[in-house]
Amino acid sequence: MAKRARVAILISGRGSNMAALLYAAKRQGCPYKVVLVASNDPDARGLAVAAAENIPTFSHSHKGMEREEFDALIHDALREADADYVVLAGYMRILSSGFVEKWEGRMLNIHPSLLPKYKGLDTYQRAIDAGDTVSGCSVHLVTPTLDDGPVLGQTEVAILADDTPEKLATRIRIAEHQLYVRVLEDLVSRELDPDWLVGKVNQLALELPQTHAKTSHGSPGWRVGTEKSGKFFAYVSVHHHGEDAVALLVKTSGTDEQAALIEAEPDIYYRPAYYGASGWIAVRLDTGAVDWDHIASWLRKSWSFVAPKKLQPLVEFLGD
Ligand code: GAR
Repeated sequence: MAKRARVAILISGRGSNMAALLYAAKRQGCPYKVVLVASNDPDARGLAVAAAENIPTFSHSHKGMEREEFDALIHDALREADADYVVLAGYMRILSSGFVEKWEGRMLNIHPSLLPKYKGLDTYQRAIDAGDTVSGCSVHLVTPTLDDGPVLGQTEVAILADDTPEKLATRIRIAEHQLYVRVLEDLVSRELDPDWLVGKVNQLALELPQTHAKTSHGSPGWRVGTEKSGKFFAYVSVHHHGEDAVALLVKTSGTDEQAALIEAEPDIYYRPAYYGASGWIAVRLDTGAVDWDHIASWLRKSWSFVAPKKLQPLVEFLGD
């Protein structure tokens, strides 16, 4: 079976969304598994549910701690659990921007309104008071601004004439449980989809100066220089030459560096067929949790090996 993404869930209370995610993960073929449930409240009811399902739990009260200090504690627990994704499920803490940055693109939140409407608290009452006929829930990627990141999915829930905030909340919660599972499954699955991986590499490669995409022997590739005389600095190998991997092929300084990298991290690097002899290295993209900053820095490095001298200063300001 394909590798399942490792998901940690942060809760502060009841944990009904956590329970929905956890039971969904029992389905055979679910692309994620829950590796940790953590809370800022040791009495959060959801912790007992997780423990009863044999999911490791971590809790620590945030009281008396600085925000950064507390988030660092949670971050350590997430690293310890080797989590690939963080899912906020009724986690009622504002997160420090340092913590958010560390999990950028890999942290989701669910919010009981149709964002961008009604960020913050009292969403049900506010929707009723406004005379809205429909409310709902949203799942979004977490960015440093509260309830503000890109929305990945929403479900509308009709507001009834005699709705109270409690009644509306109960129905929205049912919608939340289904929406959250679906969005999380989609998010973790796309990183195993070769087309999505190629698209992501394409975006990063074309951010470098004077680059264009060009297919080479059936593989997507990227070149620096003109359409006529450009040189390849990257390819994506999608199960090429019988390999079972989807990988980025980039240039190293030579076969010594190539061998050292493969020895140090054999789960990530391998020597690609044909290109290997000239020092190219394959960086696996099908791990389910690619570090895209790492891929971007490989692309920059490979670009600078082949780019014409006059272009070199253009990437120096882009970092390592
Ligand atoms: C959910 O309704 C969720 O949308 C909301 O807290 C509830 C948690 O319930 N989150 C927020 O308001 C975040 N801004 P649960 O503990 O039963 O999953």
